[in-house]
Amino acid sequence: MTVPYDPLIHCQSLRVAIIGAGNVGRTLAQRIVEKNLADVVLLDVIEGLPQGVALDLMEAQGLEYHNCEVVGTNNYEDTANADLVVITAGRARTPGISRDDLLAINAKIVADVAEKAFKYSPNAIFIVITNPLDVMTYLTRQVTGLPPQRVMGMAGVLDSSRLQTFIAMELGISTANVTAMVLGGHGDLMVPLARYCTVNGIPITELLDSQTIDRLIERTRKGGAEVVKLLKTGGAYYAPASAAYVMVETIIRDQSRLLPTAAYLQGEYGLNDIYLGVPSFLGCRGVQKILEVKLTSEETEALHISANSVRKNLKLALESVGI
Ligand SMILES: NC(=O)c1ccc[n+]([C@@H]2O[C@H](COP(=O)([O-])OP(=O)(O)OC[C@H]3O[C@@H](n4cnc5c(N)ncnc54)[C@H](O)[C@@H]3O)[C@@H](O)[C@H]2O)c1
Repeated sequence: MTVPYDPLIHCQSLRVAIIGAGNVGRTLAQRIVEKNLADVVLLDVIEGLPQGVALDLMEAQGLEYHNCEVVGTNNYEDTANADLVVITAGRARTPGISRDDLLAINAKIVADVAEKAFKYSPNAIFIVITNPLDVMTYLTRQVTGLPPQRVMGMAGVLDSSRLQTFIAMELGISTANVTAMVLGGHGDLMVPLARYCTVNGIPITELLDSQTIDRLIERTRKGGAEVVKLLKTGGAYYAPASAAYVMVETIIRDQSRLLPTAAYLQGEYGLNDIYLGVPSFLGCRGVQKILEVKLTSEETEALHISANSVRKNLKLALESVGI
């Protein structure tokens, strides 16, 4: 017998699995359910942590008027058939841990969680957030063997949002009028493109002098460190979770938005076999198209310097997980 199609019976919520229920993971979960976007499965190695966060979020359901389910778990089976997997699991930098040590620690964590999540959700699109971002995104693709379009990293949306905020603050105007674009790796060598930052279409180069622009760009480069210095106990998570939310929503709603994304390059911008932040159209198939904007020779050089730094770390990360 064929059951006639009934949207009340057949409608099935989309599922986002978030690996790592720390600050970024749990704030992203909150954004997703409070905007009624999808059900969320939160997974963490710490027993009780994801379950506690999930219960807490569920207890706000009636107050926030959402009907999305949040499940907390330590078991990958519970993440099965996720439409999207977001990886936030990892260690933050603490005194006594060198950058190289952290790279090796997070490489092992990300390789492990990506493999396990992929086993239960082979059809998912993966968004990586764990740092060092471009390296961890490459690693996730290596471990899962997924087509490159289905693995991407979040950093450019955050870096661009920081620059957008600083421009709006400097001019004393609404951020809604400002667009900003930051390319390259997520770190001190990111490549903010002042020429492509505008106030309702007017390039900021016509509204701000070059010294001011350089100051805002420098603040953007150090945006993460500025928050760490103030918080003292960890890194930024509200803006990172918002940035990840925008990517998740764009994919789930198939919006084809142009977002700076750590995407796999195969010749674009003269770079091969590397994940790096570039403007990309995102939709239900993941990275649907990489846009190659015209760069000056200095911008191209800056992008390649950023890529070289990512490659150096990538080599160390791949060695540490034996790939
Ligand atoms: N790409 C970006 O723009 C960006 C922005 C902010 C933070 N980050 C990065 O995101 C990561 C998470 O940041 P956070 O502030 O949420 O950190 P956090 O310490 O609050 O959370 C990390 C969580 O990962 C969990 N975890 C560790 N190993 C795990 C494993 N093997 N399996 C499952 N869970 C595991 C921890 O228990 C912890 O709950 C860090 O690497 C941080 O540097 C990236």
